[in-house]
Amino acid sequence: MIQRVRGTRDFTPQDMSRRRQLEDLLRRISRDYGYREIQTPVLENAELFVTKSGPGVLNEMYSFEDKGGRAIALRPELTAPIIRFYVNDLTNLPMPLKLFCISSCFRYEEPQSGRYREFYQYDVEIIGSEKAEADAELLLLADDLCRRLGLNEVEFRIGHVGIIRGLLDAAGMPQDRQSELLRLVDKKKLDEARAYMLSEGVSEADAGDILATCQKKGDREVLKGLKGEASEYLERVIRLAEKGGASNLSLDLGVVRGLDYYTGLVFEIDAPELGAEKQICGGGSYALAELFGGQPVQSTGMAFGFDRLILAMEKTGQLAPEEGIELFILAVTPAQSEEMVRLAGGARKAGISTEFDLMGRSMSKSLKYASSRGARYALILGEREMAAGKVLLRDMDNGEQSEIGIGSVVDELRQRLAVR
Ligand code: HAM
Repeated sequence: MIQRVRGTRDFTPQDMSRRRQLEDLLRRISRDYGYREIQTPVLENAELFVTKSGPGVLNEMYSFEDKGGRAIALRPELTAPIIRFYVNDLTNLPMPLKLFCISSCFRYEEPQSGRYREFYQYDVEIIGSEKAEADAELLLLADDLCRRLGLNEVEFRIGHVGIIRGLLDAAGMPQDRQSELLRLVDKKKLDEARAYMLSEGVSEADAGDILATCQKKGDREVLKGLKGEASEYLERVIRLAEKGGASNLSLDLGVVRGLDYYTGLVFEIDAPELGAEKQICGGGSYALAELFGGQPVQSTGMAFGFDRLILAMEKTGQLAPEEGIELFILAVTPAQSEEMVRLAGGARKAGISTEFDLMGRSMSKSLKYASSRGARYALILGEREMAAGKVLLRDMDNGEQSEIGIGSVVDELRQRLAVR
């Protein structure tokens, strides 16, 4: 038997019904906030990601040489592709450009529950604004989404890369040495972070202060005593988002994010019910357009892990079961087959979801199948009834059967289904 590729998944009809429910909800909330949907290709030139996504993502990237000798990658994330698309084709659109997509991404990671090699993201980007209002709007959307999904225990961790970078500047660490430090802080390797700072000439006292700042968590109070634009900006974003109704927000100055492109506000959201892989969202503001050959443009965005949202919603019982069909039609003998197909056509035209028998099995087996498909009604075409211009309509919930005229099948079903 040929197995699927490690870290990938097949989705059953039941899985897909749940995934569609989430997609519908994501499209609805995107629309409510004025975001427009786009799609980019699964394949990109590898250099798109080499430029700025950071070694974390690069080590995990699926990349290969194509038949023309080009270095190609399966996209590990959606931000760089969206900004490439913007720089290629969308710069004439009015700003801000508010875009979203729901797409697959690929990372060569060690698979475990909630971590896959092929996974999906719901990505939201605002291109063209450097205002606190844009970052605040993202937080509002994220907060609203978690609420609509019934994820009431989520934890926001909001920071600003400028706070730690500002302290590192003041401590004399050159900017091109700072990314490595942020990476260690992101991985919570604080002992290594201290050793790295000391090896880069930062004093013991400054290193201690910087690590203490990285560990500050809580409400806006944690910003007290911090000076500089970054902390003022962060305070303003939180204030705006709270005015807009967000109530779950909390700060964590140690959040600096693994991807290299962030320049300002950064945040992550955890759903504690998910255990080890509990991070359902990551985002922040960044400037990538210039790097990809465009004019300098500030952007901000976030991506939710689609699969992790599904897992969290399963845990909180938020997903409805797969919808069944409304009608199943069966012919008792092959002589009624043509009428079966004709009646199915009429019902479908009337908007009634309908299957007809494709197997020619006994009535009891056909009804068993209809029930496994969640059919609400079955229409049984028997020789005797049909000779009298009638068919049997069976209510699959309670087994009650009644004879109805062939000509009134659609009207009768419409009435009964409307009553439900
Ligand atoms: P990220 O934090 O790398 O950020 O990924 C965003 C989310 O994708 C994570 O919080 C997680 O829920 C989900 N995720 C990541 N890797 C996996 C995996 N292997 N299996 C399942 N889910 C996973 C980004 O990708 C940035 N592009 C976000 C962004 C958008 N920043 C600005 N705009």
